[in-house]
Amino acid sequence: MNNSEPVLMMLFGATGDLAQRKLYPAFFRLFREQVLNDHFAVIGTARRPWSDDHFREVVAEAIADQNPTEPEQSAFLSHFYYQSHDVGDAGHYQTLNQLADKLDDKYQLAGNRVYYLAMAPRFFGQIVTQLKAAAIIETAGFNRVVLEKPFGTDYESANELSKQLTSVFPEKDIFRIDHYLGKEMIQNILTLRSTNSLLESQWRNQYVENVQITFAESLGVEQRGGYYDQTGALKDMVQNHILQVLSLLSMELPKQMSEEAIREGKVAALKSVRIYNPDEVAKNFVRGQYVDGELNNDQFQAYRNEPDVDPESRTETFVAGKFQIDNDRWRGVPFYVRTGKRLTEKGTRINVVFKNLTNNSDIATKNILTIYIQPTEGFSLSLNGKALDAQAATAPIRLSYRHDSQMMANTPESYQRLINDVIVGDATNFTHWDEVAQSWKIVDVIRQAWDADQSALPTYSAGTMGPKEAFDLVENDGNQWIWQPDSWFVERGLLKK
Ligand code: BG6
Repeated sequence: MNNSEPVLMMLFGATGDLAQRKLYPAFFRLFREQVLNDHFAVIGTARRPWSDDHFREVVAEAIADQNPTEPEQSAFLSHFYYQSHDVGDAGHYQTLNQLADKLDDKYQLAGNRVYYLAMAPRFFGQIVTQLKAAAIIETAGFNRVVLEKPFGTDYESANELSKQLTSVFPEKDIFRIDHYLGKEMIQNILTLRSTNSLLESQWRNQYVENVQITFAESLGVEQRGGYYDQTGALKDMVQNHILQVLSLLSMELPKQMSEEAIREGKVAALKSVRIYNPDEVAKNFVRGQYVDGELNNDQFQAYRNEPDVDPESRTETFVAGKFQIDNDRWRGVPFYVRTGKRLTEKGTRINVVFKNLTNNSDIATKNILTIYIQPTEGFSLSLNGKALDAQAATAPIRLSYRHDSQMMANTPESYQRLINDVIVGDATNFTHWDEVAQSWKIVDVIRQAWDADQSALPTYSAGTMGPKEAFDLVENDGNQWIWQPDSWFVERGLLKK
């Protein structure tokens, strides 16, 4: 991690789940690495009337599993302050400003401030407007704002929000979090491509048959039914995480790996993704919703019976689709994507399937590069060799590399990397407005076509890898999903399809 600047973190949503699960633990890791040192302070704000002491107890609990020593913990906690705050009350921002100035003096923070908005997006616009009105952002140092997703609910609302934000902060100071961009193997995509001539020389339609991106989750909607039922898998996962990964896989490699050049490459890639008309949506995208199911003797209830979900909900918990990229490098290569809740197994992976030298369509003979993003990290490459003991037959051979558990335990966690990047002002692994805008344009037409189509929603049993339509989508092109974790369970009678 880089050595840091002094900084005041002003955290909106300090009593929330994200702050406790992700942010406080990440701050502590950065503190241990001295990225956050004597010159930092955190002001937590939320409606609840907590005291500094209570706030510190909550933070202590959030970092307990990192086993801090007593002196370490009390040194860390001494930098945390709490201010009860109503985001709509102008007077509260004055109080906040006074506290910020006081801490700036006390810890010599050079006027550097990060405003972390870990709360419902409907408050984003209001908060930044008030920060400006109260002159909190008028300091000698940097002033950066960090936003959690979702950024808007469609292009129009995102554009509106963007205008509000940029009337206060210049785009370079707006850090939109996509936590997948903090993951090790996603950050590795450009390295793999740019440092291996073996891969990059083949990274085009002449050699690649199709690309598959799977973001599978085994969990259901848990306690987030209220949010999820309004959102669905398309907006929750495809508009942001999946399109980000697709842009990293498909972009032209920049001459130098600078923040601007990478961003330009990603934006250009997204602009080449075909925007479908409603007929094309019907042909290239499928959705599904899970009904009850049983996997390995565990019973799961249907999505419609989950807490806070409308019992007649038409929200999709699964999406599979085929993106087409209209440029010289990728014309004709399907980019298949799929994501869903309550699938067989949690796993995020990319498969790049290369064309065979002959017309052999047997999948076992294809060269496939797999990038494992989680839960394991690594990659594998399937090649062909001569089968032992056979004169002419070939056998598939898989070269496989996975990070071991010790290495994984030592790699920085997503939020730790991303917060570090905000402090040092590196926006490479954040989503620029141009990327957000284009992603919404791609996704909006799919959403609209689906909203206009009131036919029965395809369903899938909890524990399977999605509705039959998702398999047909790929098989109709003569291809197949490479990752099929469900077959293992089906073969053993642990899952009925
Ligand atoms: C979030 C989605 O962005 O990503 C969640 O809102 C999803 O619905 C989560 O569960 C998955 O993230 P991870 O890091 O657990 O794979």
